[in-house]
Amino acid sequence: MDSDAMVEEIPSVEANVKSGKMEVLGNEQDGEDTLMWVEKYRPRTLTEIVSHKNILETVTRLLDANKLPHLLFYGPPGTGKTTTILAIARKLNGPKYQAMTLELNASDARGIDVVRTTIKSFAETQQIFSAGHKLVILDEADAMTSAAQFALRRVIEKYTTTTRFCLICNYVNKIIPALQSRTTKFRFAPLESKLIKRRLMEVVEREGVNVTPDGLKAIIKLSGGDMRKCLNVLQACHIGYDITNEENVHLCTGMPLTRDIELILGFLLNEQFSDAYQKILEFQTEKGLALNDILLQLHPLILKVKFPPEVLMFVLSQLAELDYRLANACNEKIQLSSLVGIFKIAREKTLKYSNYTKKKKKK
Ligand SMILES: Nc1ncnc2c1ncn2[C@@H]1O[C@H](COP(=O)(O)OP(=O)(O)OP(=O)(O)O)[C@@H](O)[C@H]1O
Ligand SMILES: [Mg+2]
Repeated sequence: MDSDAMVEEIPSVEANVKSGKMEVLGNEQDGEDTLMWVEKYRPRTLTEIVSHKNILETVTRLLDANKLPHLLFYGPPGTGKTTTILAIARKLNGPKYQAMTLELNASDARGIDVVRTTIKSFAETQQIFSAGHKLVILDEADAMTSAAQFALRRVIEKYTTTTRFCLICNYVNKIIPALQSRTTKFRFAPLESKLIKRRLMEVVEREGVNVTPDGLKAIIKLSGGDMRKCLNVLQACHIGYDITNEENVHLCTGMPLTRDIELILGFLLNEQFSDAYQKILEFQTEKGLALNDILLQLHPLILKVKFPPEVLMFVLSQLAELDYRLANACNEKIQLSSLVGIFKIAREKTLKYSNYTKKKKKK
C-alpha cells in the first residue's frame, strides 16, 4: 500500500463533523458569527478549560513527560470530555494533529468491522509519521457493541507503541472491564456553579447579552452543571428575548418557575385527592409543563417540607419510582395521579406519626 493511499483512508477529524455536536477543529475562524456558542466558545487549549483542575494537571504532566497512557473519560454530558481530548490532540501533535487523530463518534458505525478495518488501518500507518503518538478518540464509546469492545482489547495492546486510545462515555459501567483496566480513568464531574458563572460572564460580555443576575442564576440552576446546556440556553434566550431574566429563561426552556412549583406543592399538601389532581392537571395544561420537569423542580422543595424523617424517606423513594416510570414513557396522567396519591399517603402517615408522638409524650 503506498503512503498516499493510506492517508486517504484515514477519515480526517473534519470529516467527522457530522453529528449535532460538531467538532470544529479546522478552519476555526470561518463563519464565527453563525457558530453556535458551544462551538464558538469551546476551549482550544487545556488551560482554557474550566474546572477539573486535578485531571488537567495530571494530563498536562503526562503529556510533558511524553508518557500519555490510554485514557477513559467518563461523566455526565456537557462537562468537557470531548473538549479536553481535542485539546490534548492539539498539544500532543501540534499543527499536524488532524492527520494524527482519528475520531469516531456516535454518528459513525462502531461495530466490530470498524475496529477491524478503520481503527486497525489507522493504527498501522505508523511509517508515514516520524514522531509523536497517533490518537484514536472513541467518543460515546458506551454505544459500542460488546463484540467491538472485545476486539478493541487486542488492537490497543498491539499498537500501543505508536497509538494512544481515548474512550469517552457517559456510563462507565457500559465499558467492559478488560478495556477499563487497559486505560487510565478520569471522571468529569458536573461543573461547579461559580466556575460556570465566571465562564458565562465572559460570553455575556463578548456577545453583549442583556442578562439579569436572576437570569444567570436560573440558567446555572437549570443546567445541573452542564456547560453545554448553559451556553445553549443563554444563546436561545438572547436570540428570543430582549432581556435574559429568570422568567424568560424558564419560558425558553419550558421549565416551571419556582412560584409555579410552590403552587403545585401547595395543592399536593393541602387539597383533597381529586381537587389536587384536577387543579394540577389544569395548571399543567395551561402552562404547558411536563410532569418530569415538575418532579425535578419539586425535589429540592420537598426536602424543605417538615415531614417526619420516615415520611420523607417514603416520599423520596416513591418519587424516585415515579421518575423511573416517567423516564420509561409511562402515561403522564396516570403518573400525575400517582404523584397526588404519594402526597395523600404521606399526609396520612404524618398525621399518624404526630398522634403517636403526642400519645407517647402524655405517657
Ligand atoms: N470544562 C469546560 N470548560 C469550558 N467549557 C466547557 C467545559 N465543558 C463543556 N464546555 C462547553 O460545553 C460544550 C460541550 O462540551 P463537551 O463537548 O466537551 O462535553 P462532553 O463532556 O463531551 O459532553 P457529552 O458527554 O454530551 O459528549 C463545549 O463546546 C464547551 O463550549
Ligand atoms: Mg462529548
